Amino acid sequence: MKGIILAGGSGTRLYPLTVATNKHLLSVYDKPVIYYAVAKLVDAGIDQIMIVTNPSHVEDFVRLLGSGKDFISKKTGSQIQIVYTIQNEPHGIAHALYVGSGYIGKDSCIVYLGDNIFEDDITPHIRKFKRGAQVFLKKTRNPERFGVAELGKGGTVLSIEEKPQKPKSQYAVTGLYLYDNTVIEKLKNQTRSARGEYEITGINNRYIEEGALKSVILEKDWFDIGTFDSLLDASLHMRKKKNGRGTAQKLL
Ligand code: G1P
Repeated sequence: MKGIILAGGSGTRLYPLTVATNKHLLSVYDKPVIYYAVAKLVDAGIDQIMIVTNPSHVEDFVRLLGSGKDFISKKTGSQIQIVYTIQNEPHGIAHALYVGSGYIGKDSCIVYLGDNIFEDDITPHIRKFKRGAQVFLKKTRNPERFGVAELGKGGTVLSIEEKPQKPKSQYAVTGLYLYDNTVIEKLKNQTRSARGEYEITGINNRYIEEGALKSVILEKDWFDIGTFDSLLDASLHMRKKKNGRGTAQKLL
């Protein structure tokens, strides 16, 4: 399975912190935001990772992460491989994934929005995954900030709405997605949302239409580094848990 970390965007909600840099390079306690994404994937056994970012920051990512030499694969015991792709125009998350989709080849992929930090172990879900798609939900007090899942009997996802004014549940769709190879075709046939972007929610709804979307509810902490408060909350959390990290993180 290939790992794709999406790390573009202009981070306007974090101005002026992100005027001169990319949100994913800001610090969460003692590491840049993007480190948490790479470490989570590596801990889960993913050793081929592509980072998609914007033209003005790609060099900073390369300087920071290089070929991936600081991260050792759990599977092979050798260095992981990181490659980079540029998204020239900010047309949304699903557009960034489309730009990087050549990397998937004949494989499946795990897509990780680089500004998300997860405490749950995702390894078992990756191991079990075979076909269709899987989203990871988290109960939240402010679902209107996210993609929100409408849940049916037995926790089936009936639909997902992007930042709804009247959320149909408290379950946010977090920035982590497992897709089979059919995602490539779905990415080629997208339409823009009302706000003019290609939404990852559009892709997930395509899987729902096919009856092929599964969901998992996350139990541990989840941070979406989109606001000053979430940036601070994540930093304080990481300071508190400084001892007791996963294998890949121990190397950092
Ligand atoms: C994106 C997705 C949204 C998801 C969120 C998770 O929103 O569009 O569905 O819930 O990431 O972090 P953004 O944070 O880019 O506004």
